[in-house]
Amino acid sequence: MTIATDSAPRVDYSRLIQPERVHGSLYTDPAVFADELERIWYGGWVFVGHASEVPLPNDYVRKNIGPQDIIMTRDREGEVHLLVNRCAHRGNLVCDEPAGNSSSFRCPYHGWTYRNTGELQGYPYKKGYGSQGKLDLRLASVARVGIYRGFVFGSFNPDVVPLEEHLGAAAGEIDRLARLSPAGEVELDAGWLRHRTRANWKLLAENETDGYHPQFVHGSIFAVTGSTIGPLYSDASTAVTRALGNGHSENDLRPEFRKFAEPMRWFGTTEDRVPDYVAKMRALHGEAAEQIMIEGGPHVMIFPNLFIAEIQVFNIQPISANECVQYSTAVQLRGAPELNKRMLSQSIGSVGPAGMLLADDTEMYERNQRGVEQLRPEWLDIRRGVERETHDENGFLIGGATDETAMRAFWRHYLSLMEAK
Ligand code: FES
Ligand code: FE
Repeated sequence: MTIATDSAPRVDYSRLIQPERVHGSLYTDPAVFADELERIWYGGWVFVGHASEVPLPNDYVRKNIGPQDIIMTRDREGEVHLLVNRCAHRGNLVCDEPAGNSSSFRCPYHGWTYRNTGELQGYPYKKGYGSQGKLDLRLASVARVGIYRGFVFGSFNPDVVPLEEHLGAAAGEIDRLARLSPAGEVELDAGWLRHRTRANWKLLAENETDGYHPQFVHGSIFAVTGSTIGPLYSDASTAVTRALGNGHSENDLRPEFRKFAEPMRWFGTTEDRVPDYVAKMRALHGEAAEQIMIEGGPHVMIFPNLFIAEIQVFNIQPISANECVQYSTAVQLRGAPELNKRMLSQSIGSVGPAGMLLADDTEMYERNQRGVEQLRPEWLDIRRGVERETHDENGFLIGGATDETAMRAFWRHYLSLMEAK
């Protein structure tokens, strides 16, 4: 696969992306999407899946990097590989199953077989290739694979920056999620729901840390469930929106949870409902357990496609300028069966096929896409909270709970990628 990250952009991004507004064509123009594939989806780090999805030697699972069909495998030595699902003979798909366990893949077209490391194992009727010896062909590997606490990222760009550099401060948010497990480990092995969405992927990425919409879009679910989430996203909230660098952002709800100082409130429950978990956390962390259980999990968008929403993880993958797939799964914490059961059922209720939360967001995404396809007034306004933005003690830009600080940071990073030489 050729990665032409050095080709000149065909679009004048500095005109379309301004500090307080962005142009509607960024969500609709196929030329923009082509540049994004090159510079973001194939040129940078993309979240692919989790190592816990392939726990055993020879396990594999089908994944995506943008429109690319990827097989995530674990070889017999335990190493995780990302292979492109395309036969090196004449391009057929070599893997059909969504997941399985196999040390090799056999292309159905002419029977070529590949190891789960990508190496060509064999092909029928060798004499037809004359005296050439074993053919010098294999399944393409994604050039770089990086794993952070089991979260598997891939990049087609062999010269991409180290994964730790790309994650930067966002790595600390993954740590915060893992810290909720009595074993210190997250597992994303509950299966992924697949939501095909008629909207540009950026509408989803921007929405993940938009604290302005929940009271309006999710008002009905908050009312029906008696949820305490609504007030976290209001102008009276002490929560902050934080730009973490490299386009990553979070809604930091900890100031609100600290105010109440009730362990497990972040999860909408109380200690007595999950006694085994609380006991394990206390035994492990001593006095520090209190704070960990008060502060809960992160609400963080890791550029360009990994969204951790406390108890769910989303993986956004674009198909075209106006279509993407959002995969969602429940967070599972190793050593916390009590919590895992609840996280699974809450996830089904919120982002499952009949879930009440994601359906509302998706309706907004698709309406938004139809809206931005209208030609006027051309621009989307992202100035909310610009005058009350400040820096926190670590130098990160922060805004109020309902401010568009995260969107502005997303677009600054996006612009830097699109303009990079
Ligand atoms: Fe795969 Fe021919 S295309 S074996
Ligand atoms: Fe929402």
